[in-house]
Amino acid sequence: MNILFLGDVVSESGCESVSRKIHEIRSGYHVDFTIINAENAAHGKGVTAKLYNQLIDAGADVITLGNHAFAKREILYSFQDCPCMIRPANMEPFDVGQSVFIKECGTKKIAVINLLGQIFMSRATDDPVHVCEELLKDIDADIIIVDLHAEATSEKIMFAHYFADALTAVIGTHTHVQTADERIINGCAFISDVGMCGPYDSILGRDIEEVIDRSINRINTTYLPANGPSVICGCLITVDDETNRAVEIERIQIRP
Ligand code: FE2
Repeated sequence: MNILFLGDVVSESGCESVSRKIHEIRSGYHVDFTIINAENAAHGKGVTAKLYNQLIDAGADVITLGNHAFAKREILYSFQDCPCMIRPANMEPFDVGQSVFIKECGTKKIAVINLLGQIFMSRATDDPVHVCEELLKDIDADIIIVDLHAEATSEKIMFAHYFADALTAVIGTHTHVQTADERIINGCAFISDVGMCGPYDSILGRDIEEVIDRSINRINTTYLPANGPSVICGCLITVDDETNRAVEIERIQIRP
């Protein structure tokens, strides 16, 4: 079983690039199941039902989110129209959407969980370790993958070691910069951060001049996604069909 995880899609241009490239990636890597984090898909912050549909139509099985999940207010009212999308379990509002998605893929049941890290993440209402332990009590699946949307590498590495026996993969998202620490921990695939699918000439997907104006020149700008072609970042997780344990994780980075 080959599972593709694509990192944070940034802006409509990131969505376009993913939609254009995903077929080639899926067939090239013999992908059976695809997870995409889309928390920055709508103009750099949040997601809309339209962009959700675009990514599902392109071939995603499940869409995960993060601290900007509800940045576009319209998603609060259209989340129910996005049945294959999950939002962090430890973030308010709790009454919108779900945080665990389970889908059959061939003979396997795959569960995907979305959680926020607590360190340097103001939106987290509770410790992701505690929340994950509670969620796992009710999950019946062959393969369980967590998208841990978090800032601190230390928190993500600790989480992976703590849950290595219970999970098939812990994939870090949020920083938009792909780390080179992919590894297998006791049959659990792990990477601190999978990186982004967004404008390559940018600061984490954001317009370079706009960030410099705001940060150095102290000009009160508004968030502006960068233009130009996107980098595609992700990873491929290979799961043993007999044991349901991860045997390999490979970084994917396609620069424009
Ligand atoms: Fe984020």
